[in-house]
Amino acid sequence: VVDSTAAQIGPGRRRGGPDAARAAALLDRFLSVRRATAALAAPLSAEDQQVQSMPDASPVKWHLAHTTWFFEEFVLSRAAPEYRRFHPRYAYLFNSYYEAVGPRHERPRRGLLTRPALAEVSAYRAFVEERVAEWLRGGRCGEADLDVLELGLHHEQQHQELVLTDVKHALFQNPLRPAWREDLPDPTGTAAPPLTFKALPGGVAEVGDPGEGFAFDNERPRHRVWLEPCALASRPATNAELLAFVEEGGYRRPELWLSDGFAAVRARGWEAPLYWERDGAGFVEFTLGGLRPLDLAAPASHLSFYEADAFARFSGARLPTEEEWELAARDEPVAGNLVEGGRFHPCAAAAEGEGPFAQLFGDVWEWTRSAYAPYPGFTPAPGALGEYNGKFMVSQVVLRGGSCVTPTSHLRPTYRNFFYPDARWQFAGVRLAKDLR
Ligand SMILES: [Fe+2]
Repeated sequence: VVDSTAAQIGPGRRRGGPDAARAAALLDRFLSVRRATAALAAPLSAEDQQVQSMPDASPVKWHLAHTTWFFEEFVLSRAAPEYRRFHPRYAYLFNSYYEAVGPRHERPRRGLLTRPALAEVSAYRAFVEERVAEWLRGGRCGEADLDVLELGLHHEQQHQELVLTDVKHALFQNPLRPAWREDLPDPTGTAAPPLTFKALPGGVAEVGDPGEGFAFDNERPRHRVWLEPCALASRPATNAELLAFVEEGGYRRPELWLSDGFAAVRARGWEAPLYWERDGAGFVEFTLGGLRPLDLAAPASHLSFYEADAFARFSGARLPTEEEWELAARDEPVAGNLVEGGRFHPCAAAAEGEGPFAQLFGDVWEWTRSAYAPYPGFTPAPGALGEYNGKFMVSQVVLRGGSCVTPTSHLRPTYRNFFYPDARWQFAGVRLAKDLR
């Protein structure tokens, strides 16, 4: 419905029209995403939120500020003409990697930013939240601006996961092995369902964003692929299965490893998945709830691509391609052990589910054998936001399915996550695949 006021404002600037309804819905989501981020940081002290454990990880305080800067830079500064920045130098401190926006503080030195203090970052968050809410309520938001705001929500959800994986890595550096939260639930105590392989038909399949809602540019365009007949494991590999790999010398057998992988094993002294620690004859594992007995029934986690690949070879199998994974997952509901479940750790599937594949979503991201590359016909967004995904499409590997710290509304069957093959600090595991020929 276009009323006379809307006609004066012009297309995409209607008062009370479809954009106003979308703005109202986005305001609710905006406030809820921002609250969720704050809740993840709440159990942490200011010191916890300051520390940076390695160049790949960022301080929680930095995540809180950077996600705020994203809305300031890409929404308010461009779409709200009256907006004045909270601080003239924050763009330098909290720009992550956008060359088109300007120079920035070096990533490995984010932990050295003792100023602004955490309280100032909290004030920055409140300031920007108030202005975004005012802007959304003002009824003058164009469609394209709302698209960027929506991207900002998904961006902040990505950082919610990073807040937890980064702080887990930071807390692990402390010999006291402190917990993020002491009150996390114990393992489910259920046994893992038996591992079986379920066939997927070969032939032409369509993969990529079907255009039914938000998707990142790297999920587009939808396109056809050819798949040979294959079978995927009914569930991710468990800690018990990884333990067999460890105990049978998996980390010492070069024939199981890609060359770069075995070089990483040697150079870094890998003997087991990250966060496993020897305890007598067995292992304990570090979790967001502190040190715990290794839950043998839970999906194995914190594996690099190299470890996932070597484990697959040890198992007489291989990793699935991202297209095979998507074919298995495309009709499955996005449900499982995700962040809203409050476990913050992978757990055994309760029982065999309805579909052929358990735990496609949640628990652990699943490494695929697919290089992170553009889909045929990929075009990045124009301007600075074109840097969001496209420029990272080399030397990284695709993961699918989300983890126990991923927000449900952040995921889709077509979602492509990506990390370097040696990265271990994410909740990343492995689902085996086999050729059927
Ligand atoms: Fe970011």
